[in-house]
Amino acid sequence: MTGLAPAPAAPSAAFDVDQLRAREFAWMTRATGVYVNAASVGPQPDRCRAVADEWALVRSEPHRIGVPQLRGAADGARGNFARLIGADADEIALMTNTTYGLNFAARSLPMRAGGAVLTFDGEFPSCVYPFMAAARDRGLRFELIPKAGRLPDEDALVHAIETRDDVSAVVVSWVQFATGFVADLARIGAACRARAIPFIVDAIQGVGVRTLDVHALPIDVLSCGAQKWLCSPWGTGFVYVRRALVEQLEPHDVGWACMRSSDDYTRLVDYEYDFYPDARRFEVVTLPYQDIAVAKAATDVLLEAGVGAMAAHVAGLVDRLIAWAASRSDVTLVSPADAARRAGIVAFAPRDLDGMHRALSAAGVAHVVREGCVRLSPHGYNTLEEMERIVAVLGG
Ligand SMILES: Cc1ncc(COP(=O)(O)O)c(C=O)c1O
Repeated sequence: MTGLAPAPAAPSAAFDVDQLRAREFAWMTRATGVYVNAASVGPQPDRCRAVADEWALVRSEPHRIGVPQLRGAADGARGNFARLIGADADEIALMTNTTYGLNFAARSLPMRAGGAVLTFDGEFPSCVYPFMAAARDRGLRFELIPKAGRLPDEDALVHAIETRDDVSAVVVSWVQFATGFVADLARIGAACRARAIPFIVDAIQGVGVRTLDVHALPIDVLSCGAQKWLCSPWGTGFVYVRRALVEQLEPHDVGWACMRSSDDYTRLVDYEYDFYPDARRFEVVTLPYQDIAVAKAATDVLLEAGVGAMAAHVAGLVDRLIAWAASRSDVTLVSPADAARRAGIVAFAPRDLDGMHRALSAAGVAHVVREGCVRLSPHGYNTLEEMERIVAVLGG
């Protein structure tokens, strides 16, 4: 089987939103509404349809596809995910979602006995329940650092890490789902590393809309579903494991696909208990190759456009919405006022939440209400003109 993924175009020198829309999100150029909900679900680029069709075809005639092609699809996706965060492909394990990777971290990382796992109050439940469960099983406590106002209290978290002797692990989301608050991963990670505390990051709301260089950051495990800002199928995602930990960590869940012996299908029952030396040791089962191939195609689009260039474009869109919220006396801006602490999520609490929610819905502005706020999440395919339309719907 050949040609499942179209050859990537050369990276564009300058980011051109109109070109991106015309090539990959053509329906948006005809839509009367505006899609600003990447924080829930990222739309798949148009090229993904051809890839999905081709995989559907070979899936119904499986003799047309062999193990090397399946492995090639997985390698391609690992490579793209790695590029998006500045990792190497052998530090990436494919996962079906963010939460699976966080469970892996909660269960597998060595943690000081009897202490506390810390996170921010207000985090998405995937940063909470897996660690509550693991803490219970491992004889640890789980603790929320109270908010400062509506936002995470990063100073309090760092102070706790630096001064307490009972911190066993820290987990935060890079970009918080309801507020859009961007955690300072370098600062929190450095505090953790100085005290040999594992630092775990849920990155699903940031990867694809902000650049990241994990090798420059003291992160032990980073987990990311691809269904939002990576515009990929539900059921795709990855976990990054810091190189020094890859071989050190015993996988918590063990299957057949994590073993070197799975390379040779002719002698699977030799039962050699020998994990892959790279992060594939954390991949337990047969992968959803048809979706992984689409994720590769979707992330090709982002990499070709350039995540840094898209991030700068999205910052302009977000600035417009923030300026509008700040100008209204009946609206409380909940997302950080500091641009360095924002990614693609804008959250604001209107006095008339229902009214604004209804007005946006009636105008076809795809958005959500989260924690008492309207949440808008523009991505690289949105335009400033669309932001002006939203502002007009909201009463200017
Ligand atoms: C911060 C964060 N983590 C995780 C998820 C989803 O987790 P999963 O990919 O496991 O479904 C979301 C979804 O809204 C989220 O906002």
